[in-house]
Amino acid sequence: MGANMTGIDISSRLIEHARQAEQKELLSIRYEVVSFANLTIFSNDSFDTAVSTMALMDSPDYEKAIAEIYRVLRKQGDFFFSISHPCFMTEGFGWVTGGRESKPALTVSGYFSKKQWIERWQFSRVPEEIRKDTPLFAIPRFPRTLSEYINTLIQAGFVLKQLGEPRPSASECHKYPYLQKWRDAGALFLHIHCVKP
Ligand SMILES: C[S@@+](CC[C@H](N)C(=O)[O-])C[C@H]1O[C@@H](n2cnc3c(N)ncnc32)[C@H](O)[C@@H]1O
Repeated sequence: MGANMTGIDISSRLIEHARQAEQKELLSIRYEVVSFANLTIFSNDSFDTAVSTMALMDSPDYEKAIAEIYRVLRKQGDFFFSISHPCFMTEGFGWVTGGRESKPALTVSGYFSKKQWIERWQFSRVPEEIRKDTPLFAIPRFPRTLSEYINTLIQAGFVLKQLGEPRPSASECHKYPYLQKWRDAGALFLHIHCVKP
């Protein structure tokens, strides 16, 4: 649509795939392998908008990243991001059935813990025949509470505009029944929109 865009990730492999996609479909997007916690290749006030999807919870450097994103945004610049919902995606995350509720319930524990840990998981829909030969994802976790996420934004100077806790719709759950528990029990994602005043 004519916007000048720059995409970043710390993973050179991911950026390589993005550059290959750019060659197939030319969108004039510049890609750089950099950490969101060190955006020194970009000048102050040089972006109208910043968007981050499901990445800022995966780093020990959330606070540095927020300060850097604030720096590179121009005044009135918007910042939109999504993270795993910190209230629900704790080290004690799990599903239980057979309790007071007839529906699956979600467990939370260690919400205030600062202990970093490695989450190992696999998509639940990996076919049974390849499941045992498919290595698990190993994702380092850096727990923060909801107030830590939000207060860091406020302390950096951002003004909150809107929070979102997206939830599968009834029709999506009808089509994909495995989503129903996410409609009923808790939020998997937290969306935040804030602005540099
Ligand atoms: C769950 S993936 C999301 C990828 C992509 N944003 C998307 O929405 O599909 C998390 C991404 O965060 C990236 N990441 C982790 N730490 C980072 C950092 N310090 N700077 C930039 N990217 C980082 C990882 O390399 C990974 O690609």
